[in-house]
Amino acid sequence: MAGNPLNDGLRIEPTPGNATLVIFGASGDLTRRKLLPALYRLSRGHRLPARFSAIGIARTNMDDEGFRKQFRDSLREFAGVEPGDDIARSLAAHLYYLSGELDDPAVYQRLTARLQEIDGADGVLFYLAIPPSVYGTVIRQLGAAGLGGRTSEGWRRIIVEKPFGTDLTTARALNAEVHRHFEEEQVFRIDHFLGKETVQNLLVFRFANGMFEPIWNRRYIDHVQITGAETVGVERRAAYYEGAGALRDMVQNHLMQLMTLVAMEPPIAFTAESVRDRKIDVLLSAQPLVNNGRPNVVRAQYAAGWVAGSEVPGYCREPGVNGSSTTETYVALRMQLDSWRWAGVPFYLRTGKRLPKRTTEIAIQFKQPPLQVFKAASPSSVSPNLLVINVQPDEGISLRFEAKVPATRMQLAPVMMNFRYGTAFGGPVPEAYETLLLDAMLGDPTLFARHDFVEASWTLITPVHEAWRAEAAAALPQYEAGEWGPKEADAPMAADGRRWRTL
Ligand code: BG6
Repeated sequence: MAGNPLNDGLRIEPTPGNATLVIFGASGDLTRRKLLPALYRLSRGHRLPARFSAIGIARTNMDDEGFRKQFRDSLREFAGVEPGDDIARSLAAHLYYLSGELDDPAVYQRLTARLQEIDGADGVLFYLAIPPSVYGTVIRQLGAAGLGGRTSEGWRRIIVEKPFGTDLTTARALNAEVHRHFEEEQVFRIDHFLGKETVQNLLVFRFANGMFEPIWNRRYIDHVQITGAETVGVERRAAYYEGAGALRDMVQNHLMQLMTLVAMEPPIAFTAESVRDRKIDVLLSAQPLVNNGRPNVVRAQYAAGWVAGSEVPGYCREPGVNGSSTTETYVALRMQLDSWRWAGVPFYLRTGKRLPKRTTEIAIQFKQPPLQVFKAASPSSVSPNLLVINVQPDEGISLRFEAKVPATRMQLAPVMMNFRYGTAFGGPVPEAYETLLLDAMLGDPTLFARHDFVEASWTLITPVHEAWRAEAAAALPQYEAGEWGPKEADAPMAADGRRWRTL
């Protein structure tokens, strides 16, 4: 029976074939906070392969037992789980650890031997949870040890964490290095936003419903606002963040991904290549962010202030940050897509640390009706229809429309129609890393960035950094921690006759 092409490739609770996960950076933050808890939850949900093992590799001196203890500690600390249950015990028994320098070929020989000892795996998934400065080293060593590329002994895949490069040149070089040892279909460039439930739901919302697509274009949509607001500061990540800044850290990857999912044309099927082909079109249609040497991006840095009732220091006083740092912790920008669907519809993106509220949302504002029929009854202009996709923390979708206030006279007021994951489905929403680890084991790269996506995204972002380097440092505005960014971010919106949403 011929299937509906939109359903082809859709996974209905599949379980991956037997696999070994090799985590480089096994004693690091990402492994403890995200990867080990994700493995536990996958195991609890019976989603791990029947035979599954994980080998951790890092410089920290530790043995298998030490790694198992780290696993139990991370469940307690980051998953709120007491690790005494059968699931934790049986998973821990399949955790192994190798310590050594990542540039030492002997480590890879020991790894090869361990992989051979762990009998019964159909494939191996390497995970680079290490600083980007050593991605190349590990990829080359894997290649030299014969652990890259295709093999008759089963599949091999590699997950590369963000940041994938720091600009266009380094991203291209990294792609070239990866491709020397792995084929593109073996490479899984992670962007954890794509694993978030609401982000995936955006595809379903758009392409599994008939009623939204006809109005999803320049005729009906006025503009789109994408916000990634965080209350946290730089925390203990100054060593990384100082060289990154908000544009690299959040826009080049996460917000660009959200924008492409909103703006993409319908794929012909829910398959990795079809979805990713349509997403890359969006980036290729984007106008440059720098015009005549001037970047259309507002940047700013947080100064001291108050967040959630606590006084917090300014960015330059954070541990590890250079006292005269010009790294931006906030950016706001306007993207314009030159396509039939979106010509003239701006996409406004903003993100910042130390903002008043943690919230990630996509707000699609529709055009006003062509005629104000209720002008006499409701002299103030009606609120435009607004579709808000709440990515986090309160996952859901809401639609704002005008309604009549119950009364004998005609009076209008905006009301909301709400869908909330929690109330609609109950049950916990899976963590992004669960979904993505499982997809990589299944060999499904739909929710991972393809090589051309990262390069196209850096093609837009890199000129902004180049222009900033040429600007005087004094051009960096500040905003008080706990405020909604700098006032400079309002001016470009006001010039378009629009305002940032108050969240
Ligand atoms: C990471 C960034 O990729 O995403 C962090 O490096 C940021 O700076 C984080 O805080 C936000 O992710 P989430 O899932 O907490 O919204």
